Amino acid sequence: MSFSQIGVVGLGIMGAGIVEVFARAGYQVVGVAESTAAVEAGKSNLTKSLARAVSKNKLSEDQSEEITARVSFGEDFDLLANCDLVIEAAPEILALKVDIFSKLDAVVKPTGVLATNTSSLSVTEIANATSRPAKVIGMHFFNPAPVQKFVEVISTSHSDSQVVSEIVELGNSLGKHLAQISDQPGFIVNKLLLRYLNHAVQILDSGQATKEQMDAAMRELSGYPMGPCELLDLIGIDTCVEILKTIHADTKLEIDEPAAGMVQLVSAGSKGRKTGSGFYDYSEKLDTPTDPNQEVKNQVHNDLLIAYLGDCIAMEATGYATKADIDSGMKLGCGLPEGPFEVIEKIGIEQVRSAQAELSARTGITSYKPMPL
Ligand code: 3HC
Repeated sequence: MSFSQIGVVGLGIMGAGIVEVFARAGYQVVGVAESTAAVEAGKSNLTKSLARAVSKNKLSEDQSEEITARVSFGEDFDLLANCDLVIEAAPEILALKVDIFSKLDAVVKPTGVLATNTSSLSVTEIANATSRPAKVIGMHFFNPAPVQKFVEVISTSHSDSQVVSEIVELGNSLGKHLAQISDQPGFIVNKLLLRYLNHAVQILDSGQATKEQMDAAMRELSGYPMGPCELLDLIGIDTCVEILKTIHADTKLEIDEPAAGMVQLVSAGSKGRKTGSGFYDYSEKLDTPTDPNQEVKNQVHNDLLIAYLGDCIAMEATGYATKADIDSGMKLGCGLPEGPFEVIEKIGIEQVRSAQAELSARTGITSYKPMPL
């Protein structure tokens, strides 16, 4: 099948970013959202992002106009009828996604593939809401979608392998690096990333470090493009809480229970950049977080890094994902300078394992123990 017309449902940050990715790659795109305000917000996200690229001389005015001309917007699902592929990018609520997929199933032509950009929910349950589960897959982009070069393609036991390979080919045509995986909560990257982000807020909640100390530690000592609190604000703290709830329902581990500090911010309406505040206040331009306390920065950097590396080792050992896919996911999905297995190679696996044992003994948290050999 050849894909030429692409639909996107939901025009928040991710949906609008996905619209841009396809339109930039030359596809005709239809963006649909549930209200006039949501459609206008999606249009405005696209316009701002293209204007930023023009201002940085990454695109010419003419190219920006051509991209814009490939996109149409509206509120009616019927606009998606002739799409070869529709990607859903609605909030992380299973009932909402199930409802959207049953509506898409009714309007999109029978040959059309339906994809969800879910961050962690069961693609199988979403596929079950349609009469075409073989043509339903996960296509998980990373924020900002035009920047991050990684996409997870999630297949279910219903998926038609031909559809999966066509989607992988399509993803390659967008200039993305794709990893194919099965349907497990959090897939590769979010399973690792969200536990790390939650760990950071657990440290913050315990009073061991401030958000600036943690963000500065990860930026300065590991070269991450953002610290954990900055990244939580970028993704959306509400989204992170929802992803963690899904992961926690699966693992039942205390370390995956959304940290109180996140839940409280969401209750207060401070969901991150999209609401103007989260861990930080975005009413003014933020300075890069810094802090002079090297001792605290070293400690939180050690703890966050070692727990995360331990999770990567465990994920690979279960056979869920390869070292190569885990490294690519963290580098190309989250902009990290090195993949976890590259870091482990440098530190030495035995040193990582003894640091895991030390972290577990010091905190009393058994989940941080190294895997039995
Ligand atoms: N839309 C489009 N382009 C954007 C953008 C946006 N929202 N934000 C930044 N950019 C582009 C800029 O135009 C610039 O492009 P250029 O290199 O071609 O000039 C480039 O990104 C770098 O931007 P800036 O110089 O303005 O800013 P930074 O260097 O600080 O980078 C960042 C910003 C790309 C967001 C970087 O900090 C980063 O990679 N952070 C980590 C983000 C991350 O981890 N994302 C994954 C989250 S998990 C996820 O999304 C999964 C979901 O399910 C939860």
